This record gives sequence, C-alpha cells and structure tokens, in this order.
Amino acid sequence: MTRITAGPGHSSRVTGVETGAGDGEMIAGVQELIADLSPDNAALLTAFHRIQHQYGYVPRETIPVLAAKFRTTPAMLYGALDFYSEIRTSPPAETTVQWCSGPACLLKGSVNIRRALESILGCEMDGNSEDGRFGLRLIQCDGTCHLAPLVRLDGTYVGPLTVSDAVKFARELKGEPAVAEGEATSTAEEPEEEGEA
Ligand code: FES
Repeated sequence: MTRITAGPGHSSRVTGVETGAGDGEMIAGVQELIADLSPDNAALLTAFHRIQHQYGYVPRETIPVLAAKFRTTPAMLYGALDFYSEIRTSPPAETTVQWCSGPACLLKGSVNIRRALESILGCEMDGNSEDGRFGLRLIQCDGTCHLAPLVRLDGTYVGPLTVSDAVKFARELKGEPAVAEGEATSTAEEPEEEGEA
C-alpha cells in the first residue's frame, strides 16, 4: 500500500440536509454570489459550485433563492442536486475518505474495501458518521488505476489496498490500534471478492 499525493480531490453528494441559524445572512450571501449569473440552466451548476465553495455544501435554505433566480421549482433543483454527484447537500465530515468506484478498482476487490470502511468508520457510502467525524464518498476513476483498488484522503491516493490495509487505514484514522485486541496480526482474512458495486 502506498500513498501518493495528488491535486484537490473529488467531492461527492451527501444525502440529507442541515438547517441552522443565520439563514438571512446566508440567503443574502447566496443572492450576492449568484447575482451575475444568467437565469438559465447552463449557469445552475456554476451557482451550485459557488455556493459549495463558500459554505462547504449547498444548504437547503438556499433552494428558494435558487428557484427564484433560475425560474424553476425546488423539486427540479433537488433533482439537479441529485444528478450532480460532486455537489454536497449537507456539511462535509471532519474527515472524508473517497472511494473509487471505477472498473479497475472493482475488479480488484474494492467492494470489500468499501464494506470495511463503512463498518469501521460508521457511515454508509455518501454519508457521514453520526458524530460527523467521518464521511465516505464515491468518486469516479481518474486514471490512477495502477494504484487500484484505492481510496483518496486529502488529495492523497492510498493503494493498492487489501481489505486488511483498509481495516488498518480506517482504524488509524479513528485513532484506534491497527489490530483490535484479540485479533491475530498475520491471519486477517479477506472476504471473497465480488463483482457488485
Ligand atoms: S478504477 Fe479506480 S483508479 Fe481507475
């Protein structure tokens, strides 16, 4: 398993939304952010990106503002948010692990790595752990298949991973011992590889 530093990572959708104080200030800020955009669908993705860049995600409170600007309905906007997987709709976790869903990673057992990460980090794919410490995001192949199966963390590629590597990686993130008490260090079994996503 190696770690290779790369550029900024992909970001992916988070299901669920958060509400909070300061909505009026946020709405005013969003109106300013998108003021120069044309009210057509071509500029909608730009609006999403600007808001996410500013706030870390696209809050629910901004939807009415966007609907008015782009002359559409909140339902249409939620559909668009669901389509653009790089746009988040809830705050990012403190630490987000990005899991590659590409074919080379799948062929080399990434599904079992995903299961290990979900289990240890306590979150499902494209979700956050209850305490907000960890998030898991699905990303697409970006051509670094020589490291498959891999994950990315803060712009660093980590791979090729075995399931044992993934377990160790996740436990280290949580500040836990790489090998849990009572586990053998050299006989960590890896589940049968499967071809599902
Ligand atoms: S398929 Fe995962 S990096 Fe290419």
